This record gives sequence, structure tokens and C-alpha cells, in this order.
Amino acid sequence: MESVANIQNNAVKKLAGYVNALRPIIYINHFDFQAVDCLIRAINDKAKIKEYNEADGEVDFETKARKQKYDLNSFLLAFDDNEEKEIFLVLKDVHHKLRNPEICARLRSIAEKTIYKEGMNVTVFLVCSELVLPPELEKIVTIFDIPYPGDSQIKAIINDYTENFNIPIADNTRERLTVSFRGLSDFEIRQILNLAYQESGLIDHDSAKLVLEEKKQVIKKSDILELVQDDSDFDDIGGLEGLKDYLLKKEKVFKNIGEANKFGLDLPKGILIVGYPGCGKTLSAKATARLFDVPLLRLDIGKIMGMYVGESERNLVRAIKTAEAVAPCVLWIDEIEKAFAGINGQSGASDIITRLFGTFLTWLQEKKGAVYVVATSNNIEKLPPEFLRRGRFDELFLVKLPNKTERKKIFENHLRKRGQLSGEIDIYSLLEKSPDGGKTCKGTEGFSGADIESVVKEAIEMAFFANGTLSTDILQECINNTISLSDTMKDEIEELKKRYEKHNFKDANKEPEITKKRKKNEAVLSSKSSGNKGYGVGTISPGSGGDAGYGVENIIGSLIGGHPIFKYLTNDIG
Ligand SMILES: Nc1ncnc2c1ncn2[C@@H]1O[C@H](COP(=O)(O)OP(=O)(O)OP(=O)(O)O)[C@@H](O)[C@H]1O
Ligand SMILES: [Mg+2]
Repeated sequence: MESVANIQNNAVKKLAGYVNALRPIIYINHFDFQAVDCLIRAINDKAKIKEYNEADGEVDFETKARKQKYDLNSFLLAFDDNEEKEIFLVLKDVHHKLRNPEICARLRSIAEKTIYKEGMNVTVFLVCSELVLPPELEKIVTIFDIPYPGDSQIKAIINDYTENFNIPIADNTRERLTVSFRGLSDFEIRQILNLAYQESGLIDHDSAKLVLEEKKQVIKKSDILELVQDDSDFDDIGGLEGLKDYLLKKEKVFKNIGEANKFGLDLPKGILIVGYPGCGKTLSAKATARLFDVPLLRLDIGKIMGMYVGESERNLVRAIKTAEAVAPCVLWIDEIEKAFAGINGQSGASDIITRLFGTFLTWLQEKKGAVYVVATSNNIEKLPPEFLRRGRFDELFLVKLPNKTERKKIFENHLRKRGQLSGEIDIYSLLEKSPDGGKTCKGTEGFSGADIESVVKEAIEMAFFANGTLSTDILQECINNTISLSDTMKDEIEELKKRYEKHNFKDANKEPEITKKRKKNEAVLSSKSSGNKGYGVGTISPGSGGDAGYGVENIIGSLIGGHPIFKYLTNDIG
């Protein structure tokens, strides 16, 4: 196992490599100035070091004692005239000053002398908690990222900490924490271990919860990704069983990343969900994070566009790095076709968008970390074809209008969510045209999930204003009054259908249509065989079911409002 000293060595070697190659200005974007000081000192323990920071002016690098208080320009001017030629110049937290052309010119002057003047050897370290890089400096600045510790390094830090304080730690706790600590610095890892130990006197599985809190801080501080707090649950999705089955397999990997890695399994990259409007794409993206039990981060390409040359790309890289730091996480990009509109000359994307697209695509293809990308789109015509090629996303899913089985589940889910799912409501009668030629109820064929949700909401509101009881009649009335997606977008839906057929998308709506109607003796009962929190439909036949005296034949794994008296049968069904 790697020692802690070794970890620092790797960073020192890399930084020393830059210094020896006479890179004149090195930008270290980090918040832990003490760690950066150690690193700089370790490159060359004899080097003369001059330090300036925004708060105190010139200070002694070793003792931090104030030497002289003047502004950055005067400091650089005095230095530029100075005869000393072999020196490290450490400038801390000066990022706000880098927008000043005079400062930029002064830094360029020092850099050029180092590059072109014999015997002049100055390395400027810009040590800032923010990355600000004006175009004038771009070519002469080297950005140095202090690498995050890898798995064996994280283990070394945990061991170092626990051995120092004589704290016992179980092997599986160490494994679990190692995965959680990915993307955090040595300093942050020690801080969390400290906090966990202070709080509970132990380092155990619960310590990992503190890691999530710390990672949330990382996202908030970066202000480039949005941390979405959403309570959409996987069980809220009605239907889309094809997509759900697929994600349930990925859940296993995401919840056991340590073991999956050991086993040699590649971490899943992510999926692209395309399909009809209002049919659950966004809902599925949000629910994936809940399923994996990881933070949901939203990437908004509009938000990362910057004013300076190269700023947008740097912001995208920063967003990607933040996501990697927070991993395991879900990175959600809604309506991805809008983010990269006009790529491939369709409507003349700007150079910036084209470059952003390239950066994103390369990352997607090469990424190894536990960032699961879920992108959604309802307009594949505008979607760059690169996204549809193999190797970018693991799978491309098509979400269609819900079939009868799915409509039933969507009704149940939305009724249940609002506490209105009861055996009194005949959901079957809401799914298709009523036998009187659709006079009583026109049915919900061609309705999107969003249409069904709005029917449920409206019906509940009507019931509240009428007599306080939601009934099948009210729901039917609302259905009849609803102009569905297929009504409003008839031609577009046909057009979309043709477009989708041209591609080889995986079917998100795997489930077969319900083919039978409920029989007379079919009752509603609680079922855990559905794998859901809801109720199942079964046929009750007295005498065939052991102790309970009931057997269940023909469980249609679907869900419907249940009656409490049947709940005790659950065990027999399971
Ligand atoms: N399969 C479903 N199960 C449960 N609710 C659904 C389903 N599909 C859609 N809904 C409901 O409809 C609303 C809209 O769904 P969502 O935002 O996921 O659609 P979308 O496919 O992303 O649409 P768009 O293409 O317009 O962005 C959500 O509030 C959700 O509750
Ligand atoms: Mg959406």
C-alpha cells in the first residue's frame, strides 16, 4: 500500500517537472494554502521564496510575518527591477487583480525575461481559490491541479489517521469510505475523519454520510452545477419497465462500486432518454439519483457560457471536475439538444458551442469515474448524431406514449401520491373508450403521463369543491374535457414516430398491454410480488391457500387500489 509521503511525492514530482521545464507562471487553483506551501517548499528546499498575499502585502514565506504592505503592482514593479534571478514568487488570492491589464503586463514581462533572458529564472506561482485567466496570460500560464488521491492513497490516509489516534476500523468500513472519499483532497479527507470521530467516537459506516455533506459543500462552492433536491421516487414512475429494469441493474453496480471495481467491471457511463413530451423522461432522470442513492447534479450549458476567450470551456471542465469530485453522482442534462443546438452546421453553432461539444464528447467517451450521465431529449432531429453513436452513452432509450397497462399504473401512482387511491375507483374504465361508443368516457389512449397527471389533479380539485369524494365519474368527466397530447400534436406525433423508427432505440416501455379485463371474482389485494409499494390484483379462490384458507391464482403483476382486509395475504403471495 502506498504511504502518505508517496502521495505527496507524486504531486511534487509533477510540479517540479513544470518548474524544471521553465514554465514561467504556474496557476494552482486550490483553497488549502497550507498544503500548497508544503508542495512548493518540497520542490526545492533551498529556493528563495518571496510571498505576496492580498491581505498582508509581502510576507515571509516561512513565518508569514508581514514585511511590507503595498499593492500588487508596486510589489511586482519592485521585483521586476530587482537583480535577484533565481527565485519563486508566490502570489496568493490575487485572482481579482488578474483582470487588471497593468498587472497582466507586469506578469508577462517577468515571464518573458525568464523565457528569453540568460540566467533569469523566476517561477511565479499564482495560488488562488478561484481560476481567473485573462486571454493575455493564457499562453504563458500552466494550470497545475493538485491531483486527488487515488484509492490506495486514500486508504493510506485513513490508515495514517486511524493508527495515529489508535482508532479501530473494520476492513469493510475502510473499503466503503475509500469509495466515498474519491474526489476529496488529503486535507478534506482528514477533516471528515476528524469530524466523524469527534461526533461519534468511531469511524464506521455512518461516517460516509458526512462525506456526502462535504461533497454538497463542494458543489455549492463551485456554483457551476445545480444540486437538485427532488423527491421523485423510482416507484413514482408508472410503466417504463424496460428502462426501470435496466436502471435496477446499474443500481447494483453503483451501490457496490468498490466490489464492482475489484471484479474488473467497467463503471456505467450513462444513458440518453429520448421520446414524446410529457412521458416521463425528466421524471426518470431525477428518480435515477434516488435509486442510486447519490446526489443529483444538473448541468446547464447556458450557465457555463463565459465572457472571456476560453472561459466557457474552462467552466465546462470545472463542472466536469466538480461532478467527478462529488462522484458517485448522477449528472443530469435536460433537453441536451438545446445545449448543443446547431452543431454540425445545422443552424450554424458558434465556435464556442462546437468546442464545448467536443470537450463534453471526449469526456463522455473516456470517462472512468462514477459520474452517471442521464441526458434527455425530445427532439432527435436537433440532436448531434455523435450522441447516437456507440461508445458515448451505454444505451439509448425511447419513451413512447404509455400503453394501457402503463396508463393504469400512472393513474394509480398519481392517485396514491395524493392519498386518493381506493377500491372505489374503477381505473379500468378510464383506460379505453366506454362500451357506449365512448359517450361515458372517451378513454385515455394517446394521453401522455403529464395528461394523466393533470386529469388526476383536476378531478381531485373538482371532488373537493363538490362533495369531498373522488369518484370514477369525476375522473371520466375530466378525461372527456382534456385535450390530450395526441389531440394537440397529432401531426407532430406521427412525424416523431417516423423519426424514432429510423433509429435503433431500446424500448423503455417494455410491458405488454393488458389483454384481459378484470373478472367478476377478481379482488384487489396487497401484493409484494409486484416489487412495488402498492397493491396487486389476484383471483381469490377459497380453500386453496394453506393456513390462510385462500389461494391466489393468476396474479396480474399490476397495481390497483386495494382493500385492507386482503393485506394479510401478502405473505402468501410473495
Ligand atoms: N410514466 C410516468 N409515470 C408517472 N408520472 C408521469 C409519467 N410520465 C409523465 N408523468 C408526469 O408528467 C409530468 C411530466 O413528465 P416529465 O417532465 O418527466 O416529461 P418529459 O418526458 O420530460 O417531457 P418533456 O419532453 O416535455 O420535457 C411529470 O410531472 C410526471 O409526474
Ligand atoms: Mg423533460
